[in-house]
Amino acid sequence: MFVSFRFVLTPTSYVLETLPMVYQRYLVTSALPYANGPLHVGHLAGAYLSADAYVRFLRLSGKDVVYVCGSDEHGAAITMKAYREKRSPKEIVDQYHTGLRDAFDGMDISFDIYHRTTEAVHYETSQEFFRTLNEKGAFSVQESEQYYDEEAGQFLADRYIIGTCPKCNYENAYGDQCENCGSTLSPTDLISPRSTLSGSTPARRKTRHWYLQLDKNEEWLREWITTGKIDGKEYHDASLWKKHVVGQCKSWLDGGLMPRSVTRDLDWGIPVPEELEGSEGKKLYVWLDAPIGYISATKQWAADHGKDWETYWKDSDSAIVHFVGKDNIVFHCLIFPTILKTEGSYNLPINVPANQFVNLEGNKISTSRNWAVWIHEYLNDFPDRVDALRYYCYKIMPEQRDSEFTWKGFQDANNNELVNNLGNFVNRVMVLTQKYYEGKVPTFDESISLISPHEAGMPSWHDSELLDLFDQLHELRSCIKTFDFRGGLKVLMEISSKGNQLLQLNEPWKNVKEDPESVAVVMNLAIQYVAALSVAMRPFLPSTAEKVRSFLALAAFTDKSEFTDIMDKLSEGEHLIDPDHTLGQAELLFTKVEDEAIEAQLSKLQATIPDAEEETPEGNGIKHEIAFQDFEKLDLRTARILEARQVPKTSKLLELKLDLGFEQRTVVSGIAGSYQADQIIGTDVVLVANLAPRKIKGIESQGMVLLAEDEEGQLGFVSPPEGWSQGDIVK
Ligand code: 2FM
Ligand code: ZN
Repeated sequence: MFVSFRFVLTPTSYVLETLPMVYQRYLVTSALPYANGPLHVGHLAGAYLSADAYVRFLRLSGKDVVYVCGSDEHGAAITMKAYREKRSPKEIVDQYHTGLRDAFDGMDISFDIYHRTTEAVHYETSQEFFRTLNEKGAFSVQESEQYYDEEAGQFLADRYIIGTCPKCNYENAYGDQCENCGSTLSPTDLISPRSTLSGSTPARRKTRHWYLQLDKNEEWLREWITTGKIDGKEYHDASLWKKHVVGQCKSWLDGGLMPRSVTRDLDWGIPVPEELEGSEGKKLYVWLDAPIGYISATKQWAADHGKDWETYWKDSDSAIVHFVGKDNIVFHCLIFPTILKTEGSYNLPINVPANQFVNLEGNKISTSRNWAVWIHEYLNDFPDRVDALRYYCYKIMPEQRDSEFTWKGFQDANNNELVNNLGNFVNRVMVLTQKYYEGKVPTFDESISLISPHEAGMPSWHDSELLDLFDQLHELRSCIKTFDFRGGLKVLMEISSKGNQLLQLNEPWKNVKEDPESVAVVMNLAIQYVAALSVAMRPFLPSTAEKVRSFLALAAFTDKSEFTDIMDKLSEGEHLIDPDHTLGQAELLFTKVEDEAIEAQLSKLQATIPDAEEETPEGNGIKHEIAFQDFEKLDLRTARILEARQVPKTSKLLELKLDLGFEQRTVVSGIAGSYQADQIIGTDVVLVANLAPRKIKGIESQGMVLLAEDEEGQLGFVSPPEGWSQGDIVK
């Protein structure tokens, strides 16, 4: 029975609470990022900050936790990049592995190990899995015809082939997945397939591969995903799984699982064990080896620390939790569990709390289009604001649906919440304690009441306020345990708001002379708040938590059981910091982010929009997507041609005089091949009115007239409706 009902003694009441199964040990993973590009804010808010708050909280709750991650260094994502850049895959992964590791480190992601899938232990572990699965009959070996690029001399799987998605007609779907509609595909599903290596239409050739028989696992997977049980036995609390995760899995299951090939004809990857017949030239599919990377990383960590890796993966009181983005759900909820269950000795994950995606300033984050907030650049531009970015990412975490990162939102969150609320509270408490008590925690008279921030400004006793603080921390704990990090952050800030209200309602600065006894009660309680906050903020804002700890002159974090310790104390109405304890030195925790810094980031982002002349790879001639804000920058106006004449010594150019109603403009336009000067007097046109003037053949051209061009290169004016007036806005 994994759910136990028990009466939990809270300070205010007995509450009937449903608790998830209690685990001693946690093995927590974040998706292994491909080592083919730098880390951006979408990654961070997806699979990393969520896991980091979770593991930090578990550690503070006295749990034995191992948090593993590493670079995913195989697969077409890597080899395609190497091919395009004419470098070896090894060079690519070495470069990006280091960059990823440093970026995670810079953002205080507290992995116990950041490993690599090119390490020997990973090769051994993956091959061992393959052997075992093979022996257990998990695979079928099938011969099939696959696409082959004759020019490149290579089979085309996964990202090596693109074509039109049969489900949504997106013209640039990959052989394994359509990024437009999210469907998982096989290369043979694609309409009009073409090789991404040579662009040619591929031929078909026979090849043999190992297929994981997912179809044979459909039944138990369905029961496990939807109820948390297998054959009626409880495995996890299904009520804690996110709806969109279960929904995505169900739609796969409803569509019927198919055997999935888990080997590839590639040069780069983990070789299929050579003793197996037909293994020559075959490599493991990246999605077979990548999740096994969690296991090899744990093995390496255990070897480095003299621990037993198997306990974390196999014991009945150990829990596995995979944090991923929504594009990885199927691999972690259906494919990897099939592998683990078939192997037989491993636990299944108790949850896969996948996040959705973060968009940036109205557009999808795109590595290829450089539309991203790159973490290494952020760390360079804002070296002292790691926690500010962490804070904003938790605030906008795409837990249930896609969310939006905006620089203005970041600035507001920093200035209004971190500076004005949290930073302000901690600072006021430190400054006032210094001023009134020379930095010593005041003693107080228990018979004196204060005005309660919890009871809408009513009088209350010091100890009942401590119990209310306990209740809030209890709520924060519930949020984190249920993967509601946004909720947890909100509670954290509510505690800080209550701290500010405590000061505001009791106004120690007004009463310190006349009523020092009451002020001592208030200030003592405010210091208890700061102590509680220092622990509560640790999962979200780790370095700020450390600073507050030093302000309070408390022992540095051990990250072993601080949360449990303060909960034990508060539930008994005990103090977290004793009277007479001397506080340390304080400094400002946060400072405002100025408008200029935000504008600089926005300009940087705008400047990264690809060259407008560059076409998208879809090959339909459409230029790269731009942001709506970019379109808005154009000032388009209706205008009438008053005069026109051929520019001397040119065959294509006409000099036009345009009437905008409120002014006249001279514009040089390359339309002489399509119109004669005298034919166009009186024609209404559309002018780009805010284009920087430029000299053409010695004439200053003050704007540009919009023209349509047909396939033969014939030009025609884009005109407003007949009889339209001049100078009107076109939008
Ligand atoms: O989508 C990705 O970026 C993959 N590299 C994630 C792999 S997760 C795990 F299986 F390793
Ligand atoms: Zn599609």
